[in-house]
Amino acid sequence: MRLLIKNIKGLIQVEEKPKLKVCGRDMSVINIISDAYLLLENGLISDFGTMKDLNRKSAIEQSGKLKAIDASGKFVFPSFCDSHTHLVYADSRETEFTGKIRGLSYEEIAKRGGGILNSARKLHATSEDELYEQSSARVVEIISQGTGAVEIKSGYGLNLEDELKMLRIIKRIRKNFPIEIISTFLGAHAVPGEYKENREKYVDLVINEMIPVVASEELADYIDVFCDKGFFTVEDTERILMAGLKYGLRAKIHANELDFSGGVQTGVKYNALSVDHLERSGDDEFRALLDSDTMPTILPGSAFFLGLPDPPARKMIDAGLPVAMASDYNPGSSPSGNMKLIMSLACIRLKMLPEEAINAVTINSAYAMGISETHGSIARGKVANVFITKEMPSYEFFPYAFGSELIEKVILNGKVV
Ligand code: NIG
Ligand code: FE
Repeated sequence: MRLLIKNIKGLIQVEEKPKLKVCGRDMSVINIISDAYLLLENGLISDFGTMKDLNRKSAIEQSGKLKAIDASGKFVFPSFCDSHTHLVYADSRETEFTGKIRGLSYEEIAKRGGGILNSARKLHATSEDELYEQSSARVVEIISQGTGAVEIKSGYGLNLEDELKMLRIIKRIRKNFPIEIISTFLGAHAVPGEYKENREKYVDLVINEMIPVVASEELADYIDVFCDKGFFTVEDTERILMAGLKYGLRAKIHANELDFSGGVQTGVKYNALSVDHLERSGDDEFRALLDSDTMPTILPGSAFFLGLPDPPARKMIDAGLPVAMASDYNPGSSPSGNMKLIMSLACIRLKMLPEEAINAVTINSAYAMGISETHGSIARGKVANVFITKEMPSYEFFPYAFGSELIEKVILNGKVV
């Protein structure tokens, strides 16, 4: 199967020499080919260049079965990589949304049995098939919004059986949809009500009962802990991360959303692939992250939705750090997986340049899933996951027109979906 996209106004995020991630000042640079073509073969990116180059290589258009798409006036981007979501969940939580409007904080809602525990109750009461249907609808939605790779966490089970139910659904989604799926075990997302006075016992359960089964059934690629005020401490997190490492599960952790929790430093200490949220972070956290292989990941959708302080993305980039961005798609703090909107929030609220936002939702978020060798840019040999925009005056128009649907065609594994 060969697909040629021709007359592309701008081919975005092209790499001749692929990088695994982009840091600091380099984040403001993206490579663009104007008046370009892109050739996709057997599910992979096989070639690209200017239309002038294509006219010289007449063999491309003549040989073999070839489908061509004319992209005059349009841009082609690599698909978004959304490195942090909780999109397997049962039912929405808009009653908490109105509670928040009336003045309750995220922590107060959690204390009243809302929040994550509310979703855990709903998930327990929902059959596996029904949960699969609800989650699949969200996957279909994010594919149409340009996402080509997504990480999905468990964490609304909070007991072995329901955590496995979530992870099996993630596995089923991976099998049935053309999007790349990464699975993360988040048994330590919240302390269930029955362990309220006995958090260590729940941590023991995660370590001794859940992790061994999750690992032996090969249901997760990574492990996560919500290391924050009112949830799990640094000590709990260290115990869980050590147990995960014994089973080959590298960490991607929730850190510093609600407090300067020590989560970032803990993540770096255990060589986490990413530390995510970071609304409460400053020089100490940045120092820990510099010279580490851990990707700082911000989730502007949840800071926006919860009215939290914005993550200090500008300071992080100016300090020389890489930044990845993800949607955090979940029913409590970010009920949207729309990565274009995330880019707009980054530009408007965090003062990130459009180029920095593009790097953060493509190559750096691919790194935060451990897939930047195969995803996150237009490079020869990478997976052919791209989208074609509608006609636009410039690529900056994409995050600027924050409410407009600008994606016209989605291509995954070299096929139009
Ligand atoms: O990433 N912070 C912890 N977990 C999710 C929220 C989950 C929920 O409220 O259901 C988050 O924001
Ligand atoms: Fe999250």
